[in-house]
Order: sequence, then C-alpha cells, then structure tokens
Amino acid sequence: MLVNTKQILEDAKAHHYAIPHFNINNLEWTKYILEECQELNNPVILGVSLGAAKYMGGFYAVASMVKGLIKDLNITIPVVLHVDHGTYEGCLEAIEAGFSSVMFDGSKLSLEENIEKTKEIVALAHAKNITVEAEIGHIGGEEDGVADELAYAKVEDAFMLAKETGIDLLAPALGSVHGIYKGEPKLDFDRMLKIKELTNLPLVLHGGSGIPDEMIKKAISCGICKLNINTELQMAWAKGVREKISNDNSVYDPRKIIGAGEKYMKEAIREKISLLNSTKA
Ligand code: 13P
Repeated sequence: MLVNTKQILEDAKAHHYAIPHFNINNLEWTKYILEECQELNNPVILGVSLGAAKYMGGFYAVASMVKGLIKDLNITIPVVLHVDHGTYEGCLEAIEAGFSSVMFDGSKLSLEENIEKTKEIVALAHAKNITVEAEIGHIGGEEDGVADELAYAKVEDAFMLAKETGIDLLAPALGSVHGIYKGEPKLDFDRMLKIKELTNLPLVLHGGSGIPDEMIKKAISCGICKLNINTELQMAWAKGVREKISNDNSVYDPRKIIGAGEKYMKEAIREKISLLNSTKA
C-alpha cells in the first residue's frame, strides 16, 4: 500500500519510535527491502536520490516498478515512495510521476529562498496529498558524488522554515553525515530537542549508517522519527557479491551475482529495524 509520510510519522512521533528510510538503487534492492519489511510487518520509506532515479531510468520507471512490486509481492505494509534530496525540478517530476512524498533540499539557498521554494513545493505536493520534507543547515559527507561540509542547523532557522512553509517533516543538520564516518559522529542532542519542541514536527536524521546504536536510541527520544540509511545497505550487499565472485570463478549469471547480496542486505535491514522499535505487533 503506497502512502504518504504523514500518517506513519505522526504515529511514530506520538509513540516515540522511528521509521526506516532505506535508499533504493535497483529492482533487487527494492524487492529485498519490501520483502524483509513485510516479513517484519514494518512500515518503510523507500528513498530515491536523483542519481538513483536517473540510474533506474527516471521517476516514472521507479514509480511503476515500486507499484508493480507492491502488487506482485502482495505487500500490505505502508510503503512511502520518497525523493531524497530533490532539486526543485526533481520534486516536480516525482510529483507528476506518482511519488507519495518528496524531500526538497534547499539547504544551499539562503533561508529566505529556501522558505520561498519549499513553500511552492508544499503547495503543489499537498494538492496531491503528497508530503514534503525540507532541510536546514548542511548535512555533511558525500552521497551520490555530491559532497558537502557539515553545518549544524540554526534553531531559529529551523523554526522559521517549519512555521512559514507548512512542511510535514524536517531534516535539520545535527551532526550526522552521509557515507562513512571518520571517528564518532557528534550529534547535538540539545539542538535536536529544541528544534523538536519549537517546530512540533517529526524530525529526520540523515546519514544513519555508522551511528552507534545508543546514539540512535537517544536521537529517537529527542524527536527523530525517520532514520535514513544507504551506506550500510550498500556495504552489506557488496560483501555478499564480493564473496560470490571471489569464491566462484565460473559464475556469470547476473541473477546469481546480484542475488548474492540478498542475505547480508536483509540481515542489515533486520538489525537496523530492531533498533527503531517500528515493527507492528
Ligand atoms: P548514509 O548513506 O550515511 O546511510 O545516509 C543515507 C541518507 O542520509 C540518505 O539521505
């Protein structure tokens, strides 16, 4: 069932747990994530970066693939199809193509421009019952070849962005970064709590790979309702594929090669979900 983020994140916010956002990169990943989350009876957000959408053919191809898999695999858990770090144009395309949620990343704009553009996306998205995530501050690290320096979100800016735009969820930069951490992440929990209290919105933590479990639990208690994971799944999947290729010189069937990542990837999904408390009884 394709849904927007509102219902599932409001429940997560009210009951202090977080929903996983797993990035998808191809059909196999999408299938593994849906199967594992269905097995666990766990709502899931499928995140699609602009690079991943392009890689898979485009937003229409992704939307049709996800809807097709939901039907063919009899997926009954709530599934959100969400643009990750969308540009203005990217969000518009995804809205047209049938995504149920978008993130407009205006973090490189001035606060005024970020507010103005986010507001426009909110008006277009809400008219179609699509939810909107916005970013404030700079989430550091590298994703999809796009690198950025970490700059913590200012509490007043987060408040203004939330107040002026009508967004449904907010991703403030709070010390996490995309990709692999050099040393331990420095999450600013006080800032997280203040932003949660001032905005009253479900908060999103990007760069969820490599954050120690205790920090993730604390972040959930400080208002994080959506945890974004990509790198950990990439590493788990690549481990299986690497093992297969190095142990089996004669393999050339792409289904066997790609499929070798399934076991480790599903284990990584299960492990992360057990931390978030998001499984439905
Ligand atoms: P990681 O690649 O660090 O898990 O971050 C994913 C993410 O934040 C997607 O927006």
